[in-house]
Amino acid sequence: MKKLAIIGASYLQFPLVQKANEMGIETYCFAWEDGSVCKDIADFFYPVSIIDKETILEICKKINIDGIISIASDAAVPTVCYVAENMGLISNSIESSLFSTNKYMMRNRFVEKGIVSPRFLLAENGISYTNLNYPLIVKPTDRSGSRGVEKVEKPEYLENAIERAQKESFTNQAIVEEFISGSEVSVETVSWQGKHYILAITDKVTTGEPYFVELEHHQPSQLPDEIQSKIKDITVKALDSLDIKFGAGHTELKITRTGDINVIEVGARMGGDFIGSDLVQLSTGYDFLKGVIDISLGDFEEPVISEYNYSGVYFLCEETKHLLSVIENIEADKNIIKSEITDAKLKNIQCSADRSGYFIYRSENKIVP
Ligand SMILES: Nc1ncnc2c1ncn2[C@@H]1O[C@H](COP(=O)(O)OP(=O)(O)O)[C@@H](O)[C@H]1O
Ligand SMILES: [Mg+2]
Repeated sequence: MKKLAIIGASYLQFPLVQKANEMGIETYCFAWEDGSVCKDIADFFYPVSIIDKETILEICKKINIDGIISIASDAAVPTVCYVAENMGLISNSIESSLFSTNKYMMRNRFVEKGIVSPRFLLAENGISYTNLNYPLIVKPTDRSGSRGVEKVEKPEYLENAIERAQKESFTNQAIVEEFISGSEVSVETVSWQGKHYILAITDKVTTGEPYFVELEHHQPSQLPDEIQSKIKDITVKALDSLDIKFGAGHTELKITRTGDINVIEVGARMGGDFIGSDLVQLSTGYDFLKGVIDISLGDFEEPVISEYNYSGVYFLCEETKHLLSVIENIEADKNIIKSEITDAKLKNIQCSADRSGYFIYRSENKIVP
């Protein structure tokens, strides 16, 4: 029986553990107990911080795992790569994991490799940002889910936004960059030995300024074919620039009205928000979870797109409270696959964690409730 280490045990990893169980693989989950819903379905559970690379490596060596993986969590990526590289297992390199989980290092790498992305500066005491053109956007270098992200229209608001972002950062670092207006997509990919396969392009709707929290994701993208083919080319180059060679990729881009495409960020992992775990398979028929598990265990089959459906997710919060009646009556719509209300109180949201529920659909058309 193959032994798979899984880094993280929150609801994010739940579908991964389920899939591994289904595949008859023995699962070893590593995470703090708090919120570790996977504890009950994994074969073995170790209460260790997901960033404690050395302890996890030691345990994985003892178990003699055959592969290591995590989905949808940036914090787990460096640990996965560290353990895999030290045990000669399949993953991206340790160096690559640093580029893909630190927005400042990522931006530097993009500049070096000629990938078009917003002009930026690391926030530092006493430096001047006058080289950057307003509006600007400020973000922690190492968080996700729009936590600490804020658009700034005028110099007098910059300092506050920097402080807010630095507070959210694990290392007290923030990045200041030029704001790119336009539509936003992500590109879901799977890679094997440096060859990238594009699975889907996902259109996004966010709350917009100032905090840009994701409210909707839809596949396939409705953008014109010509733009989509440019997006695919840029995605492949962006993945290469960060030395992403194996497993899932999630590349976020913005497209201006004049058709210029900027890379916002790349994750060497599945997209969160159910994009990787649910939407890709619903729209394409490709079993993405099985695909990435196979890869981490050293097996690879070229992905086959067998279906052409629309899929998407809508998130519930105060700003989208009209969704409540849809979620409460899902029996009325056969296209709704899954839904949940996680918090009865709806909030005005500042980051993804403030959302109170969601529903996921698959249909012959894009669903607009
Ligand atoms: N330079 C930028 N220009 C325009 N919008 C941006 C820019 N950077 C970030 N955003 C918006 O903020 C959101 C969150 O920023 P992102 O860099 O993706 O951080 P996170 O890791 O929190 O997802 C993006 O999805 C996008 O909507
Ligand atoms: Mg993002």
